[in-house]
Amino acid sequence: MACECDMSNSSRHTGERRTLIVGLVCLDIINVLDNYPLEDTDTRVQDQLWERGGNAANTSVVLAQLGVKTEFIGTLADSTLSRLMVEDFHKYGVLIDHCIYHNNCKPPMSCIIVNSSSGTRTILHSNRSLPEVMYEDFELLNLNNYTWIHFEGRNVEEVLKMSERVVMHNGQFIESHDRIQISLELEKPGLKPSFCKLLPKADVVFLSKDVAKESGFQNGEECVLKFSKDVKPGAVVVCAWGELGAWAVGPNGEVVHSPAFPPAKIEDTVGAGDTFNAGVIYALSRGSSILEAIMQGCKIAGDKIGHQGFKIDAGTVTT
Ligand SMILES: Nc1ncnc2c1ncn2[C@@H]1O[C@H](COP(=O)(O)OP(=O)(O)OP(=O)(O)O)[C@@H](O)[C@H]1O
Ligand SMILES: *[C@@H]1O[C@H](CO)[C@@H](O)[C@H](O)[C@H]1NC(C)=O
Ligand SMILES: *[C@@H]1O[C@H](CO)[C@@H](O)[C@H](O)[C@H]1NC(C)=O
Ligand SMILES: *[C@@H]1O[C@H](CO)[C@@H](O)[C@H](O)[C@H]1NC(C)=O
Ligand SMILES: *[C@@H]1O[C@H](CO)[C@@H](O)[C@H](O)[C@H]1NC(C)=O
Repeated sequence: MACECDMSNSSRHTGERRTLIVGLVCLDIINVLDNYPLEDTDTRVQDQLWERGGNAANTSVVLAQLGVKTEFIGTLADSTLSRLMVEDFHKYGVLIDHCIYHNNCKPPMSCIIVNSSSGTRTILHSNRSLPEVMYEDFELLNLNNYTWIHFEGRNVEEVLKMSERVVMHNGQFIESHDRIQISLELEKPGLKPSFCKLLPKADVVFLSKDVAKESGFQNGEECVLKFSKDVKPGAVVVCAWGELGAWAVGPNGEVVHSPAFPPAKIEDTVGAGDTFNAGVIYALSRGSSILEAIMQGCKIAGDKIGHQGFKIDAGTVTT
């Protein structure tokens, strides 16, 4: 696995290679209630937060908090609402120099209802017009600047072209540490079968419980074993399964499992999966074993769900 060099040094002078996250940033309006509202009632909520959200954006912010030099690329609407997201990236030191601004668009938004009694989250997502990141946008990046590229598997055709460009780029190197590691998150159901073409491009594939179930798999072990037939030889396949923790399989075909590390009280599971992915990428990029990496992911995710919002506790980082 490629190593993040100079991890201890948080200064980010240009030219240093970094981790790139490709995907969505959106605005989340989070309503915290201790009980689900009844239809056609007027309810006062415990709290209402406006936050920067989106899977790829969340993963970026967690990685940056772990001390990884991180860049995010995604689309932003040329709207005052986007300022909130831009400022949040700046706050965490995530580079966004290559983000694409679109005129006359409304940013995607999610309205989320968090049940603070049970910790569940119900998401209502809207996007009326903002285009996704396209291959033409990705083509402008100088790949020499990156050690690891993580794709949120959304617009599969474009992500396929992007990942093929990275595979081509890697072809010129003999030493594995010169090559860019590719990871891919497949979280939303409904992308099958088109995402199958993406699977052989990645070194690490994250499948969600929803995608596993859509494919007819009953548990994380079955999911990683079956999908390991579709990835490239030697790739790592990971599947997180809420309170049951996570499963993974790597080059030797052995399935490993990490339990979840639940906090004393679950406050907010919003973004647990994104936090888990960041923990796994962090650990693998530092040369941890697959088991250590998914344990790291579960520990950070467990810490996150004990808090409202997205601050991770530095004490959780063990590797
Ligand atoms: N209820 C829970 N109890 C303990 N750990 C949990 C719980 N939910 C999530 N986790 C931790 O978070 C990791 C990721 O979980 P999972 O992928 O199911 O999250 P998710 O709900 O899909 O998150 P997201 O909101 O990002 O979509 C799990 O492997 C586990 O370690
Ligand atoms: C990317 O790398 C090139 C040299 O390889 C450098 O000139 C450029 O400044 C880097 N880009 C960024 C945004 O750091
Ligand atoms: C919210 O949590 C409480 C306590 O667990 C539960 O009684 C209630 O049914 C939950 N509501 C929903 C819709 O999840
Ligand atoms: C948003 O919706 C538009 C119009 O349906 C679609 O073309 C675009 O891909 C979507 N973008 C995102 C970021 O989901
Ligand atoms: C990302 O994290 C934010 C909190 O910073 C949260 O509001 C949001 O829902 C998360 N988004 C997703 C898609 O998980």
